[in-house]
Amino acid sequence: MVTIENLIIDFDNAVLKDISFSFPDNSVLLIIGRSGSGKTVLMKSMLGLIKPDSGNISIMDVDINTAPKREIRKVKSSIGVLFQNNALFDSMSVYENIALPLIYNRGNEDYSENVIEILETVHLMNISDKQIHELSGGMMKRVAIARALITEPDIIFYDEPITGLDPITSETIIKLIKELSNSEKRTTIIITHDIKGFLDFADFILMLDNGNVDFFGNKNEFMKTNNETIKKYLKSAGYI
Ligand SMILES: Nc1ncnc2c1ncn2[C@@H]1O[C@H](COP(=O)(O)OP(=O)(O)OP(=O)(O)O)[C@@H](O)[C@H]1O
Ligand SMILES: [Mg+2]
Repeated sequence: MVTIENLIIDFDNAVLKDISFSFPDNSVLLIIGRSGSGKTVLMKSMLGLIKPDSGNISIMDVDINTAPKREIRKVKSSIGVLFQNNALFDSMSVYENIALPLIYNRGNEDYSENVIEILETVHLMNISDKQIHELSGGMMKRVAIARALITEPDIIFYDEPITGLDPITSETIIKLIKELSNSEKRTTIIITHDIKGFLDFADFILMLDNGNVDFFGNKNEFMKTNNETIKKYLKSAGYI
């Protein structure tokens, strides 16, 4: 279970105001909402990168802020993340970027075979030795996804996985994320402005509005709601 209870995050002003929702492991959650509504801050707080001002965040039944350190570390090591800006190291090779989480978790060894295998999973071949700056935007996105997957995480976050990509590359990435969420039991959390394609395999949808939960429910409830903003999302993605 992933459970967020009365989460409040205040920087200079309130960014997340009183967020509560819960969904079962091995399901797919879409997080939508306007730019600045708090989606990335919510994700970072779920990763333990931003500490809440109040409230609880429990992932795989472990409170990631108050549980014993060893338990928190175990949960964190079972999470993979695709950050909004990819967060790849430009001056490093594809291999060095992807191997990073393994080096961090297991020490500095040769992970060439793991890296080649995960690159095949994201449909990239023979690019281990390339530098990040030599890649196209779509390739960078797939390298960043490969890095998120290299530790075989039980939970994976994708923050805006298709923003800025052309429609054909976007479709490839959506298909890949769908395959990855289906192929193994894995909790998948996708932050996106574009629900087209993702809604097909989503189980739950959370919509934030200015730091509040505007909607949380399963796909059925999402398709049937009278919420005007959601209707706009559905319309623009061609669902209604
Ligand atoms: N480290 C920070 N310090 C202060 N304010 C922050 C910080 N990070 C985010 N914010 C503010 O929190 C609010 C929510 O930001 P967030 O990045 O979560 O938005 P978002 O929903 O992900 O938007 P987008 O769709 O543009 O990525 C914004 O007003 C932002 O300026
Ligand atoms: Mg964001």
